[in-house]
Amino acid sequence: MARRRPPLVGLAVLLSVAASAVAKTDQPDVAALNVMFTSMNKPSELSGWKASGGDPCGDEDEWKGIECSDSSVTEINLSGLGLSGTLGYQLSSLKSVTKFDVSKNNFNGEIPYQLPPNVVQLNLQGNSFSGGVPYSISQMADLETLNLGKNHLSGQLTDMFSQLPKLSTLDLSFNRFSGNLPQSFQYLKKLKTLNLESNQFSGHIDVLAKLKLEDVNLKNNKFTGWIPKKLKDINSLETGGNPWSSGSAPPGMEKGSSEGSSNEEDDSGINGFAIGAMVITVLLAALILLSVLRRNHSSPVSSHYYMDESGRRDSSAIDMKPLEHSPSMGSRTPPAVPRKSISDNEFENKLNYSRRSTDPISLMNHSSSDLQAATGNFHSSRQLGQGTICRVFKAKYADGRVLAVKKLDPLSFSGSSDFMDTVNGISKLRHGNISELVGYCSEAGHYMLVYDYQRNGSLYEFLHLSDDYSRPLTWDTRVRIALGTARALEYLHGICSPPVIHKNVKSSNVLLDADLNPHLSDCGLAFFYEDTSESLGPGYSAPECTKPSAYVLKSDVYSFGVVMLELLTGRKPYDSSKPRMEQCLVKLVTSQLHDSDALEALADPDLRGLYPPKALSRFADVIALCVQSDPELRPSMSEVVQALLRCVHHKNSNW
Ligand SMILES: *[C@@H]1O[C@H](CO)[C@@H](O)[C@H](O)[C@H]1NC(C)=O
Ligand SMILES: *[C@@H]1O[C@H](CO)[C@@H](O)[C@H](O)[C@H]1NC(C)=O
Ligand SMILES: *[C@@H]1O[C@H](CO)[C@@H](O)[C@H](O)[C@H]1NC(C)=O
Ligand SMILES: *[C@@H]1O[C@H](CO)[C@@H](O)[C@H](O)[C@H]1NC(C)=O
Ligand SMILES: *[C@@H]1O[C@H](CO)[C@@H](O)[C@H](O)[C@H]1NC(C)=O
Ligand SMILES: *[C@@H]1O[C@H](CO)[C@@H](O)[C@H](O)[C@H]1NC(C)=O
Repeated sequence: MARRRPPLVGLAVLLSVAASAVAKTDQPDVAALNVMFTSMNKPSELSGWKASGGDPCGDEDEWKGIECSDSSVTEINLSGLGLSGTLGYQLSSLKSVTKFDVSKNNFNGEIPYQLPPNVVQLNLQGNSFSGGVPYSISQMADLETLNLGKNHLSGQLTDMFSQLPKLSTLDLSFNRFSGNLPQSFQYLKKLKTLNLESNQFSGHIDVLAKLKLEDVNLKNNKFTGWIPKKLKDINSLETGGNPWSSGSAPPGMEKGSSEGSSNEEDDSGINGFAIGAMVITVLLAALILLSVLRRNHSSPVSSHYYMDESGRRDSSAIDMKPLEHSPSMGSRTPPAVPRKSISDNEFENKLNYSRRSTDPISLMNHSSSDLQAATGNFHSSRQLGQGTICRVFKAKYADGRVLAVKKLDPLSFSGSSDFMDTVNGISKLRHGNISELVGYCSEAGHYMLVYDYQRNGSLYEFLHLSDDYSRPLTWDTRVRIALGTARALEYLHGICSPPVIHKNVKSSNVLLDADLNPHLSDCGLAFFYEDTSESLGPGYSAPECTKPSAYVLKSDVYSFGVVMLELLTGRKPYDSSKPRMEQCLVKLVTSQLHDSDALEALADPDLRGLYPPKALSRFADVIALCVQSDPELRPSMSEVVQALLRCVHHKNSNW
């Protein structure tokens, strides 16, 4: 981490203050440049620069690459000077800097959270920066050009683009970004040039249809779906090297290019969500149609199954329970479709489309022979886990794709249409932090669910079963995992309509991908338990969950608070080896969450004290709110997300 404070700084600041009586330049600017110079290891290329004091805007010594206006530094251009090291942590003092260009050097580490706050042009291209895009950039209201291309940046973009009204050029090319384009792209009303070439972005690009782009490069990513017509009109459009959906776009997709207002409820403006909803509806319609045609409503009670998606080695984590029809899934209740209205006519349109289509959008109908081949004939060496009525296998394809296949016990099904109901319910839920159902197999005697394989297993394994090979999760990563999981629940609770109660939030259902981003599994598998407290992981269930009908959205919030508590303490939520009074983690530690000394003792020793104390106590505050016994008093998941965002914010500024 580059953020550790060098001891030199205090001294540097002191000296600069002492010099302020004679120097022309604003002292905070001088101090920031001093720290920057030191963090770059005082390169000789930077003539005039000093590690302490100096007067960059004065008449005497010219500092290379620095421009001033009166006593303030306004431009820093160190492009292509062969510099290395880091940028220091004090750039946020440079309040008058509008151009900041350190492109084509060899800076490394994470992009500092502290950047010149009023910058108009920010160019960090062609360095070795790693990590993600700091959230502080989302607050740069004057930003017009953001160039982060040709670095080693990774992870998903967060929804941080809603307050950048002037951004006209965004270049993220040649990095390792992944995941969907965030919905907040739709607010980039001035964006003209967008370069995402050679990353691993995936999902649809419908959100771009709302923008007035002139220059777009999407080459060599993993985008799917259709290219909106409006984009196709752009001459310079580059889309090669992506697995776009073939065939013509479904009707309704094309008209989405109407001038998008940012009004969320705008029916005509197509945003990603509306399209997501439509695509899902198409699929749904097809499936409902099929099941209506095929069966006659007389299925027995235990026709839905609960599957616990597990990651790698651990073979104990898969449990499966038969379940009754729950209010939030199944064809007999209104499906939980993201809350966007689709007119009947449009709906019929989709229905027409789906009748014509042979390839139902994105879910893959696998043949059992295909999955058999990919799993080495369901060989035991490929088995990832086992439950009472399913086994999970790792499927590998020649093209490098790896999938997790849940093979269900065929005897448990009364018929394929019931299975398709289950598929239905799960497939509707689409969010970057929800484990995605990508396919299924429905043949007589062969019922399987196919998910993306998450190579880093579950959070439970990471926290509680880690071996010598795995490094402990850093504080940053823990906050990120909490935030992503919170977003998944916010989606289920707030965006799906009717809301979906997860009912089984626990760390073994939080799967981690290669970048350690969380994917909540088991979504859409809500169900009734005969005995709730017994079925749900002990230690996670809220006090009100004494019977199935008592389960409410806020019960998920409680369970989520317990997951956060695991992240904070590194302890299991329930430990039967302990004396009875100490078995339940929540009961044991809740009283200590507001006491800062007790809190430090509570923090996971694996963190080795490497966390900002303020952020830790904010995190603990959120937990305390979530695990209150009165459900009414617990915050909503949206509030939790907001609170966690503040943790991210403060995490960085408190180093
Ligand atoms: C910085 O300097 C380089 C040449 O050294 C130039 O190409 C680039 O445009 C400058 N950046 C800004 C933001 O003015
Ligand atoms: C469904 O059941 C009804 C009577 O319960 C019967 O009239 C109808 O033909 C059945 N439909 C199919 C597709 O079997
Ligand atoms: C659906 O298709 C039928 C026949 O192909 C057509 O009569 C009907 O108008 C179509 N519905 C819509 C909404 O396009
Ligand atoms: C999926 O494919 C199988 C053949 O492999 C077929 O029997 C089944 O009807 C298909 N299911 C759907 C929903 O298209
Ligand atoms: C999923 O979680 C990660 C980690 O917090 C976050 O970066 C990403 O933006 C989230 N995805 C969505 C779609 O919110
Ligand atoms: C997560 O998985 C990736 C790919 O297998 C691996 O490179 C990485 O080291 C894993 N992360 C951790 C923290 O184990």
